Formats: sequence, C-alpha cells, structure tokens
Amino acid sequence: MRFHAMSGSAARQRTECAIVGLYESGALSVAASQLDTVLGGRIGRLVKRHDARGKLGDCTLLDADRGPCARVLIVGLGSKAGFGRKQYKKAMLAAAARLAKTGARDAVSYLSVEPVAATDAYYRGRLAAESVCHALYRVPAIRSTRQPPAAALRSFGIAVAEKDQLEAAGRGLEHGRGVAAGTSLTRDLANLPANVCTPGYLARQARELAAAHKTVRAQVLDERELKRLKMGSFLSVTAGTDEPARLIVLRYEGGAKGAAPVVLVGKGVTFDSGGISLKQPPGMDEMKFDMTGAASVFGAIKAAAEIGLERNLIGVVPACENMPSGRATKPGDIVRSMSGQTIEVLNTDAEGRLILCDALTYARRFKPAVVVDIATLTGACVIALGPHTSAVMSNDDDLAAQIEEAGRRAEDRAWHMPMAEEYHDQLKSNFADFANACGREGGAITAACFLAKFTDGLRWAHVDIAGTAYLTGAQKGSTGRPVPMLVDFLLNLP
Ligand code: BES
Ligand code: MN
Ligand code: ZN
Repeated sequence: MRFHAMSGSAARQRTECAIVGLYESGALSVAASQLDTVLGGRIGRLVKRHDARGKLGDCTLLDADRGPCARVLIVGLGSKAGFGRKQYKKAMLAAAARLAKTGARDAVSYLSVEPVAATDAYYRGRLAAESVCHALYRVPAIRSTRQPPAAALRSFGIAVAEKDQLEAAGRGLEHGRGVAAGTSLTRDLANLPANVCTPGYLARQARELAAAHKTVRAQVLDERELKRLKMGSFLSVTAGTDEPARLIVLRYEGGAKGAAPVVLVGKGVTFDSGGISLKQPPGMDEMKFDMTGAASVFGAIKAAAEIGLERNLIGVVPACENMPSGRATKPGDIVRSMSGQTIEVLNTDAEGRLILCDALTYARRFKPAVVVDIATLTGACVIALGPHTSAVMSNDDDLAAQIEEAGRRAEDRAWHMPMAEEYHDQLKSNFADFANACGREGGAITAACFLAKFTDGLRWAHVDIAGTAYLTGAQKGSTGRPVPMLVDFLLNLP
C-alpha cells in the first residue's frame, strides 16, 4: 500500500473514491459539501431522504457520474461535538472495511480535514494508515476452497486542512504503515492453529524476521541450554508435552551503541490446555492465542525495524506448550526458578507466570533501562476490564502512566491497576518460597505480584492482554493488540 498526504479541495482532487463525512445532525463535512456542489446536490438529497445517515460508522457508497471522483463513500461521524480521536478511528475503520469491498484502486480520505478533538495531523495520518491496513488484513486461512479475492486498493491518501501539516501527516502515515506491518505479523502468528504455530515455528519466524531486517538479530536457545541456565520454572511447564520448548531472543539495534535497551518479554504458550489442571472444553481452542504476548513482541520489533526506531530493543520470548501427560508437572510439585526462588505449583494452569519469571530473570543480563512483559495472563483480567482495555501493573507509577498515555494516543488502551503489598500475602506457601496460584479475588493483580518477585531493581511493567488480544464469537481472531500501544510507548520514551 502506498500512503500519501495532500492538501486542496475535494472538488478538484481526482480519485477512484473520495471518503467524506456526515454528522448525525445531518450536517455535511467540509469535503462532503464541496462534492455536493460538484454533484448537483446529490449528497444533500440522500441525507434529506434518510438514505444516508450520520450514525458513527454507517457507510453509504455513491456512484459519482461527474466530478473528479468515481465514487463517494459517505461515512457517519456521529455527533459533531463528540468527534474525537476514538470516533475518528472508528469512522476510518468502517470506511476502510467498506472501501475494501469495492473495486477502487485508490482512495482519498477527507475525514482528516474535519476538526478532530485532541488529535493532530501526525495521529490523523497514523490512525488512518493503521485502520486501512487493519481492514484489509486477511487471516492466513487454511481452506480447501478458493480464498475471497483481496481488496483492489493500492494507494491511499489523506487530505490535510493546511499545507504546513503535510509533513506531520506524512510521517504519521509512514509510522502507521510500520505499526500495521507489526500488527499484521502479530495477527498472522496468533491466528495460526497450535499444530502449525509451535515453539519451533516461532523460532523459525524469529530467524525470518532477522533475515528480513538488517537491524534485527535472532538467537534461539533449546531445552539443553535452558537446563544449563537452571530455568526450572519454565521447564516445569513444558514437561508434559512432546513439543520442544525454545527461548527466543530478538535484538533490534536502532539506538546508540551500548545504550541500555528496552526489553520486551512476551508469553509464548503456543497452546494452553491447563496441563494436569485441565481446562474445560468450551473455548479451549482459544488457548491457541496464548502466545499473543510473544507475537506482539515480534510485531513491535518488526514495527521498530520498519519505522527505524532510534532505540535499542530486545525481545525475550519463552515459548512452549502446556499439556498433561505422565511426565507433566503435578499440582503440589515444587520447582526452582532461575532466580533461585522456589515455587509450589498449586495450579498447572497458572503456567504463564512460570515461564515469564525465568524470562524476566534472563532479561537482567541485558542491563535494561526498562522491562515490559506482555501476556494473556489471567481470566480475571478479562472479568475486570472486558475486551476493550488491557491491564498495566508496575513497580514504577511513572512507567505505568507512560504506558497508559501511549494507549490513549494510539487508541489501544490500557488501565493502571494497583499492586500493593497486601496482595502478596495471597501467594504464601507452607512448602516453598511462594505458590504460583491462589484464590480468585484480584487474580490479575496477584499474577502481577508473582512476577514482581522476580523484578527487584528493574524498572518493570506488566501488561495483561487476556481480554484485548483476540475477539471471540463470530469475529473470532487476533486483534494485533497491544502492538500500537507498545510502538507508541517506544516512540515517546523520554
Ligand atoms: N492463558 C490463561 C489466561 C487466559 C484466560 C487468557 C482466558 C485468555 C482468556 C492462563 O494461563 C490461565 O489459565 N490462568 C488461570 C490462572 C489461575 C489458575 C490462577 C486463570 O486465569 O484462570
Ligand atoms: Mn493457563
Ligand atoms: Zn495461559
């Protein structure tokens, strides 16, 4: 996809599809009025007859028999007073989804010349590019029948109100394209079934990522090396499966030589059956998405490489399956983590924290400026925040605030949850240093407390994406979150 920014009136710009707005009051957007004049009042008549509505995201496609564009796509923008960043993105996504079903090879969006509260030309560009790529994304479906044809769209422009915004909008489009490349990689990996996307497959994808970008290097450790590192906690999770585990390390070098890196740690459980603490059958297939944290680390590094992020980044991905068998870890077993701390495994389904704790200990060797782990860690997080917001917990309130801010800017939101001392009591064990699981109360927080026991002296944040990583039901599939938030965080590090 080619993206570009432009200025000037919709009445003169040639395109196969002009995207214009309509508010729910019936008021036309700036560009809709310009085109209405060229088209002899056709847009106004559609609105008057209620054939086009301004409800946020409603789309009406108009065949334009004269004027500079072959089609006009009229998108509902909702209330004019409430039109902000979130509404802009929603309208862009709806427009892009409708556009993808047309034969248009190029399009220009004029939504970006409307007053959009709390956003600037850069983010109008960035959110537009991300939305177009998101809508055009196709799952790597494994079907015997022919795939639906891909969209014809090749080129997408956004208009800016003032010429001096062209540069910022262009940079936003460029960054949006980079973020989308990362998001698409994350979605591809997460959408694959667990019999394809194994730890070995993830390791090969890491090598491919390194082969595709000069700035990225990959290193893969096998179980022999994990044993040498004394990662007893990580190894206890993979004990029950025949599929060999891997520790994948990705390095992106965009910053000054020797500058302390940001380390991203991603949960890479390619299938979570629960192990001996077996899950219930309904929805168990969704546990193929339990490697989305890992996939989002791959995605963030891909985006960094595409954008040319001026930071050093390291991705650490513990990848394994969680399966029951005669060799599987049993409830009550005690394991020794790489940190030396011992853990009573009360529930083998609380496996994410068991692989992450050793990965966090491993991350210390990089003397990181910041460590952020990303994981589909708890069902409790889904109950607390639902499918719209990720949870952030941290041993540093400023870091948590930076992540929340990035989520707001990127329209990929996160919410800071508390992690006070008293929650730690729930993880007490009579037999080991602490347990890996406890009662259901505050389950997302106690999981973070477990991880916190491995982050002494690190500036660390944990992002629980159990609710936001994928959609269920008819829309089942990976969302690519929280790649937009992570990249925004990295771009805006002080
Ligand atoms: N992968 C799950 C968490 C999860 C649940 C992700 C639902 C997405 C949707 C995790 O490994 C898990 O099983 N957590 C347990 C922890 C409990 C046993 C302490 C949970 O949340 O039930
Ligand atoms: Mn589990
Ligand atoms: Zn899990």
